[in-house]
Amino acid sequence: MASAARTASRAFLRSTPATSFRPAARSTRFALPSQGFRASSRRGYASEAGQGKSSNGLLWAGIAAAGGAGAYFYLKGGDSSINSKDFVPSQKDYQAVYDEIARRLADETDYDDGSYGPVLIRLAWHASGTYDKETGTGGSNGATMRYAPESDHGANAGLKVARDWLEPTKAKFPWITYSDLWTLAGSCAVQELGGPTIPWRPGRQDRDVAACTPDGRLPDASKEHKHIRDIFYRMGFNDQEIVALIGCHALGRAHTDRSGYDGPWNFSPTVFTNEFFRLLVDEKWQQKKWNGPAQFTDKTTGTLMMLPADMALIKDKEFKKHVDRYAKDSDAFFKDFSDVYVKLLELGVPFTSKPEDRFVFKPSE
Ligand code: HEM
Repeated sequence: MASAARTASRAFLRSTPATSFRPAARSTRFALPSQGFRASSRRGYASEAGQGKSSNGLLWAGIAAAGGAGAYFYLKGGDSSINSKDFVPSQKDYQAVYDEIARRLADETDYDDGSYGPVLIRLAWHASGTYDKETGTGGSNGATMRYAPESDHGANAGLKVARDWLEPTKAKFPWITYSDLWTLAGSCAVQELGGPTIPWRPGRQDRDVAACTPDGRLPDASKEHKHIRDIFYRMGFNDQEIVALIGCHALGRAHTDRSGYDGPWNFSPTVFTNEFFRLLVDEKWQQKKWNGPAQFTDKTTGTLMMLPADMALIKDKEFKKHVDRYAKDSDAFFKDFSDVYVKLLELGVPFTSKPEDRFVFKPSE
């Protein structure tokens, strides 16, 4: 039954755009967008950016208080003599957080191309990608993007949508830190959008405004290989890892009111695939003629886009080697993406647990 739904889901997602583009043969092992069928209002292709639902601080504080009390009784069976601070969450508790995010992703499809998944993945990436291996500063430990100035850094424009979207989940599970929640949501969204398994472990502590990182730690989309290497080598990644990570641009879109760029990278922006690489290699890309920042558009339909930084991956010989491999081999991309995204989400975290203690979350049916 589940597999019939998945087959239907894939048929739906593939049939949406009537174009000559078709996802390349997909991994039979991984490419199962588990929510595509249920989330039938999710569009395979693109529309205008939705307005992110903005949250009201006081409202959330109220919900948090109520949710905290609810969770307290859920967690402790109503034994008010036990302080909720004593609560030690188990894998089952984190799975409950995962299930809640997965359920909301499936239910709340009235946004962008039909899913909050891509913007959650971007939040997890920007929270982690500030890491500097020399100084040990930045990384996913801290969730300092809650505060200005980090929340106002140009690269983080639009991520308030994701932070606000996670507030009701934080209110329901008040024991989880923001930094664990944001990264768990990133892991959940990749899995729920049909991507590989992303093992995850808790252990991040929230930090205050003093731990905000300086502007300029995240990549600038108008720049090319030297800049990309400077930024990602600083985090501790090599060329193959950089290419695998940027393959995440199979998902989501750029928004003129956020980065200034415009459009999706491919025709199924809510399904995790290796399409970003296949299109980079197979399609002809030309400079977009418009009154906006320099970006590229596909010659065939003029509706897709690539950033200058994306194009650098085929201009640079070392990067291109990996692009070619991932364009042809979806399984290799899924495996390498999983490894490198797990590494990304753990940057800068002083875990007391071991890598083998990571949880593998059960995806939704
Ligand atoms: C050179 C590296 C990168 C550059 C320059 C870059 C730049 C950008 C830009 C300009 C946007 C559009 C933002 C907007 O207007 O809403 C974007 C979106 C996105 N990026 Fe990247 N990015 C990079 C690497 C990555 C990595 C490593 C990941 C994940 C592991 C990632 C995941 C995403 C996702 C999922 C979106 C779509 C967000 C949405 O739909 O709201 N990016 N990126």
